[in-house]
Amino acid sequence: MIRASRQFVVFVLVAACSALIAAGPALAAPSKTLDNLQAAFNGESNANAKYLEFAKKADQEGYAGVAVLFRAAAKAEEFHARNHADVIKKLGGTPKAEIKLPAITSTADNLKAAVEGETYERDKMYPGFIAEAKAAGEKEAVRSFNFAVAAEGQHAKFYTEAAANLQAWKAAKKFAVCPVCGNTVTVVDFSKCPVCFTPGEKFVAVA
Ligand SMILES: [Fe+2]
Ligand SMILES: [Fe+2]
Repeated sequence: MIRASRQFVVFVLVAACSALIAAGPALAAPSKTLDNLQAAFNGESNANAKYLEFAKKADQEGYAGVAVLFRAAAKAEEFHARNHADVIKKLGGTPKAEIKLPAITSTADNLKAAVEGETYERDKMYPGFIAEAKAAGEKEAVRSFNFAVAAEGQHAKFYTEAAANLQAWKAAKKFAVCPVCGNTVTVVDFSKCPVCFTPGEKFVAVA
């Protein structure tokens, strides 16, 4: 009788463990990656809209080079938003963005705001999102975040240069943007994008 009871207890324990293993993924903490992708999609969509407005203001103020830079960065943010949206859909979500444009003051102020935004994304937002996506094994999200963080670093650098020497940026400039990763450059002097290996001839010219 005792042996039978023991066998029953063992059976119950094995059954309970099997049920726990089967239910494992549901019991694990839900991945924050989808929320992070939505936040990034919202941020990139807003950056795109904001930079297009900043470009108009730069043109009005005679800073043609800055206007081209804002349009090039806007194009890169558009590609980042598209990349994030594709991953959101693959994870079963629906990309959502709420566009809120800031007050447009002057090109000098717009450049400062742009440097702040890009620096935050480069140093805080994307590194955190990448770490969480890596921990969750969400490889496509890691790829999308990595593409964005590389370009945001370039944008921050260009905006800082323009803010420091605004008069030199009255002259028109040319940029080119990688249609896959948003890599933003002044000259396509490579056969393949150094970030994502897309052929250089596919880069989108912005003038
Ligand atoms: Fe950017
Ligand atoms: Fe690229």
